[in-house]
Amino acid sequence: MILVTGGAGFIGSNFVLDWFLHHDEPVVNLDKLTYAGNPENLAALQQSGAPHQLVQGDIGDTGLVERLLREHRPRAVLNFAAESHVDRSIHGPADFVETNLGGTFRLLEAVRAYWSELSRGEADAFRFLHVSTDEVYGTLGPDDPAFTEQTPYSPNSPYSASKAGSDHLVRAWFHTFRLPVLTTNCSNNYGPFQFPEKLIPLMILNAVDRQPLPVYGDGQNIRDWLHVSDHCSAIRRVLEAGRPGETYNVGGDSERSNLQVVNGICHLLDHLLPHPPAGGYKSLIQFVQDRPGHDRRYAIDARKIRQELGWVPSNTFETGLENTLKWYLAHSEWVGRVRSGAYRHWMETHYGSARSAP
Ligand code: NAD
Ligand code: DAU
Repeated sequence: MILVTGGAGFIGSNFVLDWFLHHDEPVVNLDKLTYAGNPENLAALQQSGAPHQLVQGDIGDTGLVERLLREHRPRAVLNFAAESHVDRSIHGPADFVETNLGGTFRLLEAVRAYWSELSRGEADAFRFLHVSTDEVYGTLGPDDPAFTEQTPYSPNSPYSASKAGSDHLVRAWFHTFRLPVLTTNCSNNYGPFQFPEKLIPLMILNAVDRQPLPVYGDGQNIRDWLHVSDHCSAIRRVLEAGRPGETYNVGGDSERSNLQVVNGICHLLDHLLPHPPAGGYKSLIQFVQDRPGHDRRYAIDARKIRQELGWVPSNTFETGLENTLKWYLAHSEWVGRVRSGAYRHWMETHYGSARSAP
């Protein structure tokens, strides 16, 4: 079996659902169920009877992690658990350092103790796969080449600094203790079950409600978008065939400015929903104060994973965006439940009167 952490969040839940489309190997899913963790994302597994067990708990709870490892004897641990939203890391960095850095450290130590007692064959076959981000590389100028696995780390937000720190710990546990680790550094994901504090679901849901679409700064910041199902297939492939101690960049070759993304959503909605506002959904766009330390451009060079492991994404950004938008339109009950009191509080704190026009 495999132990997944953070598997009730956006990417983790997509990964677990995707796992059972390809395997019947059991999954134990350790998730703290913060505001971003939602067991409802995994409801389909109960109906299908897949061998999946959700355990509520913290990756930093050594006693709990040791017990899960002892009882279930996983052949791999996949670490998705993290605080993941850059804006929240600016409002309150402590949780980010606690989970992303401290939690990963304690998880690594518990896994190392378990792994060191495996038989030689089991220990050689064991993998610790750490799911990380392209944000650790910092920001690119308009003509800079895309990030490769050799690009020096240069994180600019509390979120990316805490993820960079966790990547360094994972690397060190390989070089010092020979723990067989793998790290993936992926670009921006989008798709079903993404918590609507992130750009794409936020813009879709605000537009449907005819609320302002808050674009930071001049809207020319660039992200390299990848559909979450392609991220999941990359992680499965790295787990299967990645070389211990290596890192793999994962990206969709889909660089878009934020304004292009928001305009794309508005254009789709103009055609999908009856009675668009006068001037179309674009008329809801409002340029607001920029994010402090806002990275200008991310772009991933994914040649290594393509050439070594034969992974390629299967969605284009245009079809992926349209399918995602239709998913949010079709899942209004899920949307209603995640936009609870806690969500409303975040929206008021972050987008309230303090974040007016620049
Ligand atoms: P998310 O915020 O949607 O989900 C994070 C999950 O981790 C939640 O279920 C939460 O309850 C859980 N969690 C948080 N703290 C925990 C703790 N201490 N112990 C156990 N569980 C805990 O995040 P996501 O977008 O699904 O990202 C998953 C991983 O992928 C993160 O490590 C993130 O850095 C990385 N990543 C995200 C993206 C992206 O675009 N979203 C891109 C590249 C990499
Ligand atoms: O690059 C990978 C990273 O992508 C992941 O590691 C993070 O976990 C994930 O949250 C994401 O980080 P970003 O900061 O790029 O994503 P976000 O959706 O918050 O913002 C995307 C871009 O859109 C960014 O340039 C900021 C901008 N933005 C975002 C919001 C929420 C706006 O203009 N307005 C908004 O309201």
